[in-house]
This record gives sequence, structure tokens and C-alpha cells, in this order.
Amino acid sequence: MRYVIYLLILVYEVQCIPRNKNSVSVKGNVSNIDKCTNVLPEDLKEEIAEYQDIVNEILQYVIEGDFKGKTYDELAKFVDMFGPRPAGSEVLEDSIDYMIKLTNTQKLYDVVTEEVTVPQWKRGKEKIVMYEPRHKIIPVLGLGGSICTPPEGITAEVVVVKSFKDLENLKKHDVLGKILVFNSKFTAYDETVVYRYDAASRAAEKGAVAALIRSITPFSINSLHTGMMSYRENITNVPAAAITIEDAELLKRIYDRGVKIVLNIQMQSTRDTKISRNTLVDYKGIQNPEKLVIVSGHIDSWDIGQGAMDDGGGLFISWAVPVILRRLHLLPKRTIRSIFWTAEELGLIGAFAYEERHRNQSDNINFIMESDEGTFAPLGLSVAGNQEARCIIAEILKLFKSINASTLIEDDNPGSDITVIVKNGVPGASFYNANDRYFWYHHSESDTMTVQDSHVMDLGSAFWTAAAYIIADISVDIPR
Ligand SMILES: *[C@@H]1O[C@H](CO)[C@@H](O)[C@H](O)[C@H]1NC(C)=O
Ligand SMILES: [Zn+2]
Repeated sequence: MRYVIYLLILVYEVQCIPRNKNSVSVKGNVSNIDKCTNVLPEDLKEEIAEYQDIVNEILQYVIEGDFKGKTYDELAKFVDMFGPRPAGSEVLEDSIDYMIKLTNTQKLYDVVTEEVTVPQWKRGKEKIVMYEPRHKIIPVLGLGGSICTPPEGITAEVVVVKSFKDLENLKKHDVLGKILVFNSKFTAYDETVVYRYDAASRAAEKGAVAALIRSITPFSINSLHTGMMSYRENITNVPAAAITIEDAELLKRIYDRGVKIVLNIQMQSTRDTKISRNTLVDYKGIQNPEKLVIVSGHIDSWDIGQGAMDDGGGLFISWAVPVILRRLHLLPKRTIRSIFWTAEELGLIGAFAYEERHRNQSDNINFIMESDEGTFAPLGLSVAGNQEARCIIAEILKLFKSINASTLIEDDNPGSDITVIVKNGVPGASFYNANDRYFWYHHSESDTMTVQDSHVMDLGSAFWTAAAYIIADISVDIPR
């Protein structure tokens, strides 16, 4: 059953998520584990160790020197000026123009944009009123891609389940014509988010007229979390929206007492297709400019909150990489390309377009990195690649002991946008950081600058820059 879901929602399954890391987590000195013993030649290890001075120089410059506070300040200016940047909006395009100008102010002029056709889903009026057993307004947030209700809304009785399995045990006549509420408790994101993607189709299969899900978050102060949903083929489309944990539990308690609940749900939205852009900033390599080390984050966000965390943080630490290197006159052998992806939230649209457009040059991607799981304190990298590739990265991560960022997580499918490229066998990594609270804020109004911390962002920029620089500069390519 799980696989059926994965096939249908593969595109969406990977957005903005720290996946459950089932793979080995190796703390600290990775080369001490058997896996890396004798994998790398001694001279390569020595070569990598010699980068310690450059790492220290970058850390010093970013954490205590002229760049101190810059990543946070620039992110704050950006977020405060543009706010949310949903795909298809003019504000997203304005924010892309702004990033190009900002990059130029840093004397970086090798910037190109590539057009991408993106879907637009625009939220309209949304409202839920409980009619029975008492009058109550229930705050609601439609899920991205949901259809509308009729203007007068859908008025129906409520059935509450806790899981898809629960639903299977119900008879069709118990659900027919009802509003189905999924009160499924957050366990891990990738386990729970299936309710966001698939609740509408599962509900409709049983004859329900609308689906409400408990917001996908482990923590709530009456908070609403949106995100993309999808409709299965050949199943009636019904509206789908998120309610708070508090209201999902309220409805469950009342329902369990056998008391009839009646809701009216009103949801409006519009759809369109627009042109957006991926932005590519190249910091040219001096020996092999055709070879690329990519750092990246996405510039679009959800339409609520400010997209300061998802993915303003990842965008700005990736923006900072060529800026810091240019200021320090550090010139790597290979080109470092900083990519600002567009329309990640609606299904990795920018990344798919990039992959298609650059497919015949994919051999040139030496390594691809992405930060889209928060920019909390750096811990290391989650790395996809063969054992030798991982051991090289592990050796590089040893240079970050002073900031506690030496952990290598083995993850065959790291990141969100970059999964589109990593699945072709390109080695890559996502930013492994102390993001335990990421889903408190994710896709909600609380994704604001308040989540970010200036010093912690400095650590992130310094780490990201130094790691990318070494990978772009060492004598060997990252093997495939
Ligand atoms: C949907 O229905 C069409 C036409 O009957 C059929 O060709 C297609 O295979 C169906 N798709 C699925 C996923 O069942
Ligand atoms: Zn994201």
C-alpha cells in the first residue's frame, strides 16, 4: 500500500523535509569506523588536512570578522521586504530580481536566470463553522492544490478517524456524504505527511465529500500548517484542508461520545500557469571551470508565514558562498555554482526543469549540495554517493571539529530539489543541522525571522562555504 502511495506522490514526497534517517549516523571521527579505513590514500588525507588553515580563515572571517551577522541581516532585509513568495506570484519574481542585484553589489556578475513554467495555486476565502453541537469558528488552512467548495460551502456531518487503517474498517454508508477528519498524530514527517497528500483521495474513495487533516506538526499553539496535496487518478476530487491539532482533538472527543457534529466548510482558490526562473550564480574555477560544485536553496515559499526558514535560510547561506570566497580572494579549481531554485514547494518544479535542461552536462557536476531543512546549528552533511565519495567528505568534515559539525549521515536520498539530480548517480549532500524544531514552524505563519539566529547563521554560512570550497578545490573529483 505504501508503495502505491509513493508512486503517485513521488514528486511531492521530498519537499522541505528532514527524512527519517534510517541509515548509519556516525558522530565525529568518521575515518575511525571500519568503513573508511584504508579507503583513501594517505596523501589525499594529508592534502585534505592541509585545508585546516583555510577552514579556520573562513570561520574566523564569517563568525568574528567582517562578515559577522551579514547572512542574518541580508536574509532579514529580504524577508521583511518581500514576505511570502509563492510560486507564480509577482512578488517571487521581484524577489528574484532583488537577489540578482544583491549578488551584483558583491561584484559577482556571472549570474544567469533560466525560465521555468510553474503552476500557481492561489488561496481564496477559507472558513469552517461548526453548526452542531455548538457554534464555533474552526480556523482552517487549505492544502496546496485543493479544489474549491461551492460558494455556499459544504455542510455535512463529521466522521473522525485516526488513520487510513481506521478508515478501511468503516463501512461505506458510514462515510457517504460526510466530512472525514483525519486526526493522525505526528510521528515522523515522512510517515505522517501521507495524510496531507492522500487524505482527499482516501476520503473520496469511501464517498466522503471533504477531507480535513490534523496539521502535520509535532507541536501546536493552535497553529495551522499547509503544504501540497495530490489527487489520485479516477477518484472524485474533494476539497482538503488542515485544521489545528487542538481542533482535530476536540472533534475526536465529541465524535467518540457519539455526539453528532455538523460543519460548514467554505474554500476558494484559483489556478494558473506562470513563468518563473531558476537563478545560477557562477564563481568560476581557475583550473577546471567546466566542473561544478553546486550549492543551493529554494527562493519560493508557501503563501503564509515569511519563508524565512523554509527556505530563506538555505537560500542565503548558499548565496553567501561565492560572496565570502570572493571577499577572501579564494579561487577554487572547479566552478562553484550557487542555485536559487524556484517553485520547490509545488513539486520541485525548478529542479526538474534544471535537470532536463542540463542533462547532457550532468557528468560535469562534481558534487551537489542543498540546504532546505533549516539553518539551525550545523552538525555536518547527509551524503549520497559511493563509499569512497563518502569517505572523502568525511575526511573534509573532520576539519569542522571546532564548530561541532563533523558528522556524516549516510543518506541515499538527501535534500529536496537535489533528489532530482542525485537520483541520476550524482554525489551530493544536504545540510545536516540541529533542526529538531523544524516542523514546529514548517509551512505555517510562524516561519518568520524569529526562528533564525544571527550567530547560528554565521556558523551555517561559514560551514557551507568552506565545505563547498574544499570539494571544489581538492585534486580529485568526487568519485561516482
Ligand atoms: C483511469 O481511468 C482510465 C480510463 O478508464 C484508465 O485508462 C486508467 O488506467 C485509469 N487510471 C488508474 C490509475 O486507475
Ligand atoms: Zn523548503
